[in-house]
Amino acid sequence: MIDAYQTSSQDRVNAALERLFVAPSAELARLYEAMRYSVMNGGKRVRPLLAYAACEALGAAAEQANGAACAVELIHAYSLVHDDLPAMDDDDLRRGQPTTHKAFDEACAILAGDGLQSLAFSALLDPRLNTLDAETRLRMVAALALAAGPAGMVGGQAIDLGSVGIKLDQTALEFMHRHKTGALIEASVQLGALASGHASADDLQALNLYARAVGLAFQVQDDILDVESDTATLGKRQGADIARDKPTYPALMGLDGAKAYALELRDQALNALQSFDTTADPLRALARYIVERRH
Ligand code: IPE
Ligand code: IPE
Ligand code: MG
Ligand code: MG
Ligand code: MG
Repeated sequence: MIDAYQTSSQDRVNAALERLFVAPSAELARLYEAMRYSVMNGGKRVRPLLAYAACEALGAAAEQANGAACAVELIHAYSLVHDDLPAMDDDDLRRGQPTTHKAFDEACAILAGDGLQSLAFSALLDPRLNTLDAETRLRMVAALALAAGPAGMVGGQAIDLGSVGIKLDQTALEFMHRHKTGALIEASVQLGALASGHASADDLQALNLYARAVGLAFQVQDDILDVESDTATLGKRQGADIARDKPTYPALMGLDGAKAYALELRDQALNALQSFDTTADPLRALARYIVERRH
């Protein structure tokens, strides 16, 4: 089920994203090429899928969440470009290809990341991507800014980089993961729900519980795959966390402990959807996929 849903949702968001990388003048061709390179390179599109699935769970057409789907993927792509820089994780391989600073250069990668971040907010306001009312779009901009910024992803990355070689306890590790990865995943679900045009406070609360569990599970599984997958399957270097002595769930609780925790989080996510009917099945399938994925 997830395969057909995943493919059609990936195609939908890729078609929408493709339109955003048209350089307005020849002087900007290289910058736009670096942005396109960083986005149109085969990511799993988990965050757009979550946005579409949340929109559909509230009975609206997935297309209504096109702006939300593009926005969260653009923030994600920018975060990866910067995460891979020498000053951060210093990685050479991403999605099976040279990282942006290797394919272009460091300054270009920094600027491509900056540009992608701005494009994300433009996507929420782009009339080609959604026709939502001004108040809904404002709520989406506010939610994305909070999730992407210093109280969200950027804050989590700061903690991550400040924690190398330090033993974090579970509370501190969870705090870091909820910020660096969880916040944007929570925003993906929230923006998708808002894009439906009729998310009640109860809907948003239930979906937020789901997203909190899935967001943490996603990074726990990412940590697990760093231990037990391989570079070809991952498309990024296996063992990078271990090599850099990064605080991770397997480092804290062992591989089996981390796997059991990922499954517990999946069950928490599924429980949060109890009041939803079959329209939430794509969200349920995504919760299962996130802890079963091999890359
Ligand atoms: C990797 O994210 C970085 C994390 C936040 C854990 P993904 O596993 O979603 O990467 P892509 O987008 O599929 O390459
Ligand atoms: C990245 O976490 C989280 C971001 C906000 C980009 P990681 O550093 O674990 O992601 P990978 O393993 O390089 O994809
Ligand atoms: Mg990192
Ligand atoms: Mg990294
Ligand atoms: Mg990782």
